[in-house]
Amino acid sequence: MIEILIIISEAVWIIFPAYIANSSAVIFGHGQPVDLGGKYHDGRPIFGDGKTWFGLLGGSLAGIAFGFGQIVCVGFRYPIHHWGYGPAPNAYLIAILIPVGALLGDILGSFIKRRLGKARGEHMRFLDIYDLIIGVFILLLIFELPWFYHTFLDGIRVIGLVFILVLTPILHRLTNLIGFKLGKKKEPW
Ligand code: CTP
Ligand code: MG
Repeated sequence: MIEILIIISEAVWIIFPAYIANSSAVIFGHGQPVDLGGKYHDGRPIFGDGKTWFGLLGGSLAGIAFGFGQIVCVGFRYPIHHWGYGPAPNAYLIAILIPVGALLGDILGSFIKRRLGKARGEHMRFLDIYDLIIGVFILLLIFELPWFYHTFLDGIRVIGLVFILVLTPILHRLTNLIGFKLGKKKEPW
């Protein structure tokens, strides 16, 4: 039981910078869109005006700062292992890949939404919720496969991954509601 609790808290600890990046993008987002207003072959926006450079860079830096903070804090206690992130220097690479992956996944999600003819902010159940997690997992699978396998796929550790999948819609709902109340999001989803 204790082991399961440790696996779950480690998974949440690791994925947290992804949520920080995503919600910071909403706070920092304004100005020039990532696609510079460009249109795709289908005549629709490539990503849409909801994906801005300030959101992408501000969100990435906030997520990376948070992840580095986690590593430094835990480093006092576990100098070699950096709980969850594993040994340095990979720990620092992972702490970059997670927030950047979340925001690239978010942008990929918008790209798919636009191709399906959905306007900016229009609801799309699965993609709106899981785009950031998909982005994180893609980057980790490409650049940190052994760590990813050890952390999320090795036997009982799959529980951590499942927990992230269950937690994500709840956090998504919560952060979007806060963004909506703060007037940063036009829709409460
Ligand atoms: N945002 C941003 N840059 C990003 C991501 C988000 O500026 N890379 C800001 C935008 O102001 C955006 C808001 O955060 O409107 C909410 O993000 P999101 O829900 O992902 O965008 P939507 O406006 O809903 O657009 P889409 O339909 O493309 O998801
Ligand atoms: Mg949205």
